[in-house]
Amino acid sequence: MIKPLSLSSRTPFAKGGQRACYVDPADPLRTLKVLLPGHSPQEKREALSFPKNFRPLHYFDDNDEEYRNLRWIEQKWGHVPLIPRLYGKVETDLGTAISTELFRDENGQISKTLEYYLWKEKEPKRCQQALEVFAEEWLQYAIPTRSLMLYNLVVVQEGDALNIKLIDDFGLAEFIPFVKLSNRLRRAKVTRRVNTLFAKVDRLLACKDKLSADHQEYQNAIQKRVKMLEEMEKF
Ligand SMILES: Nc1ncnc2c1ncn2[C@@H]1O[C@H](COP(=O)(O)OP(=O)(O)OP(=O)(O)O)[C@@H](O)[C@H]1O
Ligand SMILES: [Mg+2]
Repeated sequence: MIKPLSLSSRTPFAKGGQRACYVDPADPLRTLKVLLPGHSPQEKREALSFPKNFRPLHYFDDNDEEYRNLRWIEQKWGHVPLIPRLYGKVETDLGTAISTELFRDENGQISKTLEYYLWKEKEPKRCQQALEVFAEEWLQYAIPTRSLMLYNLVVVQEGDALNIKLIDDFGLAEFIPFVKLSNRLRRAKVTRRVNTLFAKVDRLLACKDKLSADHQEYQNAIQKRVKMLEEMEKF
């Protein structure tokens, strides 16, 4: 039996709500993502009551779901430069990891999120323009996603150019299979997702300079993620 790769001795470069992200020790341009403690399929299923807990275990595995979604996208659309390449699964001492492309800026640093730049930049116009380019291309593909989050888009800096990539949120939240929808309906859905994304940009920009009790929870969550990315520079 092949010994699982040791990740527990390493530090993740980032964590999301579900997963910890490590730089692949064998390749700095790949990330290995594992489920965080408390998010294993068993734990998620046990937290539910009947009839929801009757679904098969893989149904509760967010990592496996992303693997299946990225594979499905690749089969249907081929390589999409706006999302990470999928390299497969790797057994680690923290569970099964999915291996995907890690986006880095030209200077070698791991690319930071759109949320980070919108929050930190005094002049976020350039990011907004890059987002418009992303949106236009994304609409051409019309790939299904859940609601797009500003912390699930990263801004890759290459020379003077900023290129936005989507690193999470693939797949379907709805029950009706997206693929069965007509092209027109699919595009309409993707357009709605993109419009909501622009609304999220506006919301962030509107409240970033005025800390207020009304938005405190939202602002604290952003600040926590921004701080994590500031510490990411050593990777
Ligand atoms: N391929 C990548 N390239 C660059 N940075 C990445 C990549 N994948 C993840 N990250 C960073 O790691 C963070 C967490 O990753 P990810 O979104 O995959 O975790 P998650 O737990 O699934 O997130 P969520 O909270 O959205 O469920 C991202 O917000 C981003 O900063
Ligand atoms: Mg995420």
